[in-house]
Amino acid sequence: MKINLANIKKARNLLNKRECVAIPTETVYGIAANAYSDTACKKIFRLKKRPMNNPLIIHYYDLKKLKNDCDLNADFLKLYKRFCPGPITFILNQKKKSKISKVATNKKNTLAVRFPKHPVARTLLKYLKFPIAAPSANISSRVSAVTSSDVKDDFGKKIKYILEGGRSSVGVESTIIDLRKKPKILRLGGLEVGTIQKILKKKISINTNPSKISAPGQLKIHYSPGIPIRLNVKKIKKDEAFLLIKKNKINKTNYYFLSKKGDLKEAAKNLYTILRKIKKDNYKSIAVDKIPNIGIGKTINDRLIRASKF
Ligand code: TXA
Ligand code: MG
Repeated sequence: MKINLANIKKARNLLNKRECVAIPTETVYGIAANAYSDTACKKIFRLKKRPMNNPLIIHYYDLKKLKNDCDLNADFLKLYKRFCPGPITFILNQKKKSKISKVATNKKNTLAVRFPKHPVARTLLKYLKFPIAAPSANISSRVSAVTSSDVKDDFGKKIKYILEGGRSSVGVESTIIDLRKKPKILRLGGLEVGTIQKILKKKISINTNPSKISAPGQLKIHYSPGIPIRLNVKKIKKDEAFLLIKKNKINKTNYYFLSKKGDLKEAAKNLYTILRKIKKDNYKSIAVDKIPNIGIGKTINDRLIRASKF
């Protein structure tokens, strides 16, 4: 993709003035602010209507800049080398001297850190003198945004600027892994757990529904298009939209296909766009076909299960 430097400079100038801007990443769009500034980070929470106790992911250009803020360990370095920049977020111990805003972290002594791969996000990060705090660019508890027009739909004029970056190529959020002790997945995401396991060569536990919530986004209703969802449906009810993994010959207007041939990566990329589309098309509920629970299909199922708690 061609980088428009004038747009990136506009975003940088606003971020320098402690304003929020929406930015593209390869997973989903984010609402970015200066991660060193309490004032700037507070604006994110206000815009998103996000509870203040839900900490933000901090986005960096590379390792060099992260070293001031976090203790790095062997597992982290292995995964960083193999997957970064890319759709993975690490939970690490924060250094005492770190200048990251306590508003962004909810005063935790840990930090969620990520190195986005999208060339627009990377160019912006390279130009900035600070890392950026950025949650997904959607109203709290709703479906994430994967295009600039999704962001506009959710925030309208409330957001000062949306940096254009085309459609997010992964389409679901980053995988979150806690690396402080034994590796533990806190959120399934764009990078498959099996792929991470191959590099770490050790057991990785998955704890995306803990009894004590360490990431507030983990349990409540989340990723909701704003209408009820039923899962593993064979037969739909009258007036429901039907969401299927694979295109079939039935060409009814209420049938929505996540992919042409049942490709799970393609399905993940399309998931949020189609959920938004069904809502816009005015359906009052969604029935979902069985989605294979393998690879990134696990992430799709995770999102749909949480959205079905609506
Ligand atoms: O792909 C992504 O990760 C996107 C793009 C914009 O980078 N960001 C994103 O952020 O999904 P958000 O805020 O929607 O989700 C971040 C999750 C939340 O569930 C939050 O609770 C958790 O990360 N989190 C943040 N800091 C944490 C920490 N120190 N310990 C545990 N969980 C943390
Ligand atoms: Mg989110």
